[in-house]
Amino acid sequence: MTRQIVSVVGGKDAASFTTYDSTNPARTSEVVARVGLADAGTFAAACRTAKEAQREWARTPAPVRGRVIASIGRLVEANAESLAALVTEEIGKPYAEALGEVREIVDTCDFFLGEGRRLYGQTVPSEMPDKNLFTFRNPVGVAAVITAGNFPVAVPSWYLVPALLCGNAVVWKPAEYAAASAHAMYRLFAASGLPEGVLNVVFADGVQTFEGLDTALEEGTVQKVGFTGSSEVGRKIGELCGRHLQSPCLELGGKNPMVVMPDADLDLAVEGALFAGFGTAGQRCTSLGTVIVHESIHDAFVERFASAVEESVVGDPAGGVLMGPLLDQKFADRFEEFIGWIADHHTVLGKVGKITTSEPHGGFTGEGGIYYHPTVVDGVTPEDRLFLEETFGPIVGVTTFRTLDEAIELANLPGYGLSSSIYTTDPRHAFRFREGVSAGMVSVNNSTSGAEAHLPFGGNGKSGNGSRQSGMWVLDQFTRWQAMNWDHSGRLQKAQMDVADIVPDLEFRL
Ligand code: UN1
Repeated sequence: MTRQIVSVVGGKDAASFTTYDSTNPARTSEVVARVGLADAGTFAAACRTAKEAQREWARTPAPVRGRVIASIGRLVEANAESLAALVTEEIGKPYAEALGEVREIVDTCDFFLGEGRRLYGQTVPSEMPDKNLFTFRNPVGVAAVITAGNFPVAVPSWYLVPALLCGNAVVWKPAEYAAASAHAMYRLFAASGLPEGVLNVVFADGVQTFEGLDTALEEGTVQKVGFTGSSEVGRKIGELCGRHLQSPCLELGGKNPMVVMPDADLDLAVEGALFAGFGTAGQRCTSLGTVIVHESIHDAFVERFASAVEESVVGDPAGGVLMGPLLDQKFADRFEEFIGWIADHHTVLGKVGKITTSEPHGGFTGEGGIYYHPTVVDGVTPEDRLFLEETFGPIVGVTTFRTLDEAIELANLPGYGLSSSIYTTDPRHAFRFREGVSAGMVSVNNSTSGAEAHLPFGGNGKSGNGSRQSGMWVLDQFTRWQAMNWDHSGRLQKAQMDVADIVPDLEFRL
């Protein structure tokens, strides 16, 4: 029997005004869940409910909130296989990767459960006697979190876990095509004993969500918006938040470069490019966009890369494959557009387009699913759309350079700035690249994807607004600093005026 799921607000199922079928992209005839979608009014009501619940939650001592995060981690760990299997079923992520994704939630909980006993403020010296200065981290209030479905549970946890730990309430709007995974994750969070209304999940389409968010911001029931998705939608969210004097946490697209130096270990670089380009079928925000390879090793690199791609295993994501299907038909439609950017001056290595009986990948014919060929396009130039724009899906461009400075310039040219990578055996090259590249994340001799859960995650330029998730850095998204001064001198001491002056002899010379 097909799962039926609806939004949960204040611990109760909420009304829906239309339905959406979340299907298995490996076998599109299978409906994973029938999802009731809510309207803008329900979204705004959820934010009001969250605001109500937040007051008590903020009063719960942070170490107690940390214990709740600890319980969430244990619950996720105990349910890791079934949650990962559901992710594989719903978005076609290879099972090993899905297990890794679930692990990332546990890692995030492990990090933040301890933060409940830290969440440090400071004591700061005053410029006057008998006066003490302090800083405190206060929760922001309600966070509205809107997430993509390529990481349907790990990336949401980067918002949910620290937001809740810091004493905020959350209204979470997951991607519709990953709704069953999101609903399962909601249930695991709810089982931790979180008070009702502190975490709410609302399934809604983009239009209704935007309208509901506008209302909530107007009503003052949302104090922080977290958004992971395309740069295009990120701009709209940023504009909306800006009108309400808010700075959202935006985690957007990428055109992540990989520079291969002449001194690189070529086999390692090929292995890295294969996983970075085609793991998760190239649908990570950190997936490889363009390989920028030194002209002296271009031919050798491309030859090895092409044969690695040809030999790679594409197929049922429940098995040990490099690549499963695309996330959903709407991503396939967009991917068709991206492969339309391949031009006459390009050299396509291997096949391009949908995997079919007449165009199989190895022996795999892709029947019943949304499977595409992993494609490498050599000869891309800085004027090409393929070079300049994000192409979410299994396509990697290749171009060449002569000097490291030129490689850095090419790496920065598209104007994104999420992740980047350099393959080199010379530390001077690694550090020069780090300094010059505009990306928020830099890998040396490693894939552009696969960031660890306790480093700052985020981008610059078209990849975001400079906000950072994960580790201690995300605390600045979900708390606001409050400064307090306490004068116990018993008189009014005026700052900058009633300050002792010690007079130096500035004419003094040796
Ligand atoms: C994303 O695609 O939105 O660094 C996040 C990585 C993963 C997260 C990707 N840990 O590739």
